Amino acid sequence: MNSKNLTPKASLKSIASYIPEKILSNKDFEQFIDTSDEWIVRRTGIKERRIAKDDETNSDLGTKAAIKAIQRAHLTPKDIDAIVVATLSPDYFTMPSTACKIAANLGLTNITAFDISAACSGFIYLLEVSKALVESGAKKNVLIVGSEKASSIMDYTDRSICILFGDGAGAGVVSLDTQNPIIDVHTASNGEFGELLMTKRSPKAKLCEPLAMKMKGNEVFKIAVNTLCNDVIELLNKNNIDSNQIDLFIPHQANLRIIKAVQEKLQLSDEKCVITVEKFGNTSAASIPMAMNEAYEEGRLKKGSLILLDAFGGGFTWGSALLQFGGENFTRF
Ligand code: UT7
Repeated sequence: MNSKNLTPKASLKSIASYIPEKILSNKDFEQFIDTSDEWIVRRTGIKERRIAKDDETNSDLGTKAAIKAIQRAHLTPKDIDAIVVATLSPDYFTMPSTACKIAANLGLTNITAFDISAACSGFIYLLEVSKALVESGAKKNVLIVGSEKASSIMDYTDRSICILFGDGAGAGVVSLDTQNPIIDVHTASNGEFGELLMTKRSPKAKLCEPLAMKMKGNEVFKIAVNTLCNDVIELLNKNNIDSNQIDLFIPHQANLRIIKAVQEKLQLSDEKCVITVEKFGNTSAASIPMAMNEAYEEGRLKKGSLILLDAFGGGFTWGSALLQFGGENFTRF
C-alpha cells in the first residue's frame, strides 16, 4: 500500500501511553485469594499488571498520556479542538465526563469533550468517531484517549475477574493528513449479551454502593474468539487485503489464548504480533494504544507498516481497524 499522493484522510499522527508504577504480580494475588501464578499464566498469559495510586484518578492517567501524544504530534494543547475519551472506569459515573476533566487539566476550557462507553472495544470506537469528526470537517485535531483505572471497579475477592485487569492509559491525535491514514474501521455491538460482562448494581443498592465488574468468562471467551476471527477477515476482505500483507497485528490484550486464536486464523508469525498482556493484563480501552505505544517505542512501527487492530468487550461491543504507519509525521515523533 502506498500512502503517497493520496488526498488527505483521517490519520493517527501520534501515539503515547502512561503506565502506573505499582506492579501487582500473580504471586501477590496468591497472598489474598485462592489462585496461583501457574493457573493465571496458563489460562490468560498474564504475569503482572499495573495499579494506579489511590489518589491517582483515571483522568490523571489519561492526562499524562495525552500530554505526550500532543507533543509527539508536534502540536500544543490549544491546537486540539475535541477530546474524546473511552473508558469503563471514569472518575465519576455519568458526570462530569473524564474527557471534561482531561480538557481542564490541559487548560482547555472551551472545547468539545465527551466520553464514549464501549468497554474494551473503546479504542476502535475512538478511531471511528475521530475519523468521522475530522473527515467531515467538523474538527481539525481530535485528541483520543483510552484510559482505565480498572482497579477502582474491581472486587478483589472475586478471583474469576480481579486477576485479569490492570490500570493504564494510551492516547493519540487524529487529524487530516496524507500520511498515516486510518484506512478503515469497523465497529459493532450486540446488547443481547450484555449480562455476560457488566458492572452490576442491584436495584435495591444504595446509590453510593461501589460498582464491581462481573463476567461469565468462559461464555465471553468463546463468543470473543468467534466474533473476532470473523470480524478481522471481513475487514480484510472488504479492503482487498490478504492477511500476509499485514506487518503488525495489535490486538486488544484480554487473554493470550484469544490473541493466539486470531493470530492462527490469520496465519501471522509471532514477529507480526504485539503482545503486552503478560505485563499489563487487560487494560480495557487503554490496551490497544498502550500496546501500540510499546511497538512504536521498540521501533516495530516501520515506514509503510500496515497495522491491523481488533477488540472485543462488554456490551458486547467489538471492532477492527486498518491503519498505515511510517509517514513523515509519524517518524518525526
Ligand atoms: O476484555 C473483555 C473481554 N474479556 C474476555 O475476553 C475474557 C474472556 N474470558 C477469559 O479470558 C477466560 O474465560 C478466563 C481467564 C476468565 C477464565 O478461564 P477459563 O479457562 O474460561 O476458566 P473457567 O471460567 O472455565 O474456570 C475454570 C475453573 C473453575 O473451577 P471449576 O469450576 O472447574 O472447579 C473456576 O472456579 O477455574 C476456576 N478459577 C480459578 N482458579 C484459580 C476461576 N478463576 C480462577 C483463578 N484462580 N483466578
